[in-house]
Amino acid sequence: MLSAALLSLLVLLARAQAQPIVSGAAWADTSGNPIQAHGAGILKVGSTFYWLGEDKSLNSALFHAVSCYSSPDLVHWTRQNDALTPLAGTIISSSDIVERPKVVYNQKNAEYVMWFHSDTSSYGAAMVGVATAQTPCGPYTYKSSFKPLGADSRDESVFQDDDAAHTAYLLYASDNNQNFKIAQLDADYYNVTAVTSELTAATLEAPGIVKRDGDYFLIASHTSGWAPNPNKWFSASSLAGPWSAQQDIAPAATRTWYSQNAFDLPLAAAGASVYMGDRWRPDLLGSSRYVWYPLDFASGAPALVHADVWTVDVAAGTYAVASGTSYEAESGVRGGTSTILSSSIFSGGEAVGYLGHGGTVTINNVQGTGGAHWVALYFANGDSTYRNVTVSVNGGAATLVDQPDTGGQAVLSVPVQLSLKSGANSITFGAGQTNYAADLDRIVVY
Ligand SMILES: *[C@@H]1O[C@H](CO)[C@@H](O)[C@H](O)[C@H]1NC(C)=O
Ligand SMILES: *[C@@H]1O[C@H](CO)[C@@H](O)[C@H](O)[C@H]1NC(C)=O
Repeated sequence: MLSAALLSLLVLLARAQAQPIVSGAAWADTSGNPIQAHGAGILKVGSTFYWLGEDKSLNSALFHAVSCYSSPDLVHWTRQNDALTPLAGTIISSSDIVERPKVVYNQKNAEYVMWFHSDTSSYGAAMVGVATAQTPCGPYTYKSSFKPLGADSRDESVFQDDDAAHTAYLLYASDNNQNFKIAQLDADYYNVTAVTSELTAATLEAPGIVKRDGDYFLIASHTSGWAPNPNKWFSASSLAGPWSAQQDIAPAATRTWYSQNAFDLPLAAAGASVYMGDRWRPDLLGSSRYVWYPLDFASGAPALVHADVWTVDVAAGTYAVASGTSYEAESGVRGGTSTILSSSIFSGGEAVGYLGHGGTVTINNVQGTGGAHWVALYFANGDSTYRNVTVSVNGGAATLVDQPDTGGQAVLSVPVQLSLKSGANSITFGAGQTNYAADLDRIVVY
C-alpha cells in the first residue's frame, strides 16, 4: 500500500507532467527559445507531430525561414533544422514573402511536399510555392512559384482527403482575395488540376479544413490585414459543395478571441480538433502569440472552447479544460484615480478603470498553493493599440503584461504566470506605470 506521502508525490508528478496549453503566453521550445512558427502547418508522422511555420524573429514580414519543430504531445516542441531558407535570385529571397507553409506526404513518390504562399514584398505576385523533401523537416528543395490555373493565390492551406488515392486539395484566397477556391492537386502534389469548389465573393483567407463523420468543415477568417475578425465555418458533404452559409466559430465580438486561423488538427476520428491560430502583432511580429483552443463538435457544429488553461491527450484524442477561481476586480481595494466602470460586457456588470497613471487596484485573499500559477487577466481595452499592466504579488517586483485591443464590445483574457504563496495573496495591478492599463474585469487563478 502506498503511503500518503508517496501518493501525494505521485499526484504532484502527474500534475507536473500534464503540461497545459496556455494561449497568448510566450511559448518556448525545449531549449528555452521563443517558438517562431507563425502561420502554422502541422504534419503527423507516426506518433510525432511536426510544426512548420514562419520564423518572424527579425520582426519583419519578409522571408527569414520556414522553421520546423517536433513534438510527441503538441506541448513540448523541439526545434529541428529550418525546412526552407531564402534563395537569392529567386522569388523566395530574403526580400520576398513566404507564408503559411503546409506539408503533406505524397505516398506515390514517398516524398514530403510543402505548399506555401509565395509573394513579393508588396503582395503583388499572389502565387503558391512548392518545395519537396525526403524527411518532414527537410531541408526542402524549392521547385517553383506560380499562379494556380493562372489565378491569384494568397493565403492558402492544403487538405489531404482520406480516400484510397489520398487526393489532396489547395485551399486558397484567389482573384484579389475576393473568391475562395478549392482546387485538386495532381498525383505528385506539384500542381493543381481543376477548381473543385468556388465560394464566390466570400472574401476568405487563413483557411483550414477538417473532415468529420464524412462531412467537410472549412474554417477561415475574413480579410482585415493583421487585425483579427470573427472567423467562420462552413460545411459540405462534398468538397465540391454546396457549402452551408457562414457561421461564427466564436462570439463575434471577441474577433475569434483575438486570433486568426492557421491550422485545424483533428484529434481523433470522432473527437474534437485543435484550432491553431495566430494573434498577430504587426508592430512586433516576432512577439505574435499562438492561440490554440479545442474546436469542439459536441453540438454538431464546430465551436471554439475558450479555455485559458487546458490539456490535450493526443493518444486518447481528448482534451480537458482547467477550472480556476475567479476574483472580481471591483471587489478589490482601489487606489489613486482608479474608478468603477459599469457595462453589461463585464462579469458582475463592473470593472475597474483608470488603472496606471496613478490608479491601482489590489485583489486580496487570492488563494495559492505555493508555487507557479497561471493567472488569466480579463480586461477590456477600447484603444486601437495594445496597452499593458504591471502585476505585483505581495508587494514584490512587478511583471508587465501586454493587453491587446479588445474592440470595445468584448472582454478578453491574457495569461501571466505568477508565484503565489500557500494561502492568501495580494495582487496589485497598475502600480508604478505612467501609461494607462486596460480596464480590469476580473482574474481567474488556475
Ligand atoms: C500547372 O499546370 C498548368 C496546366 O493546367 C500548366 O500550364 C502549368 O505550367 C503547370 N505549372 C507547373 C508549375 O507545373
Ligand atoms: C506599455 O503600453 C504603452 C501604451 O499604453 C506603450 O506606450 C508602452 O511602450 C508599453 N510598454 C512596453 C514595455 O511594451
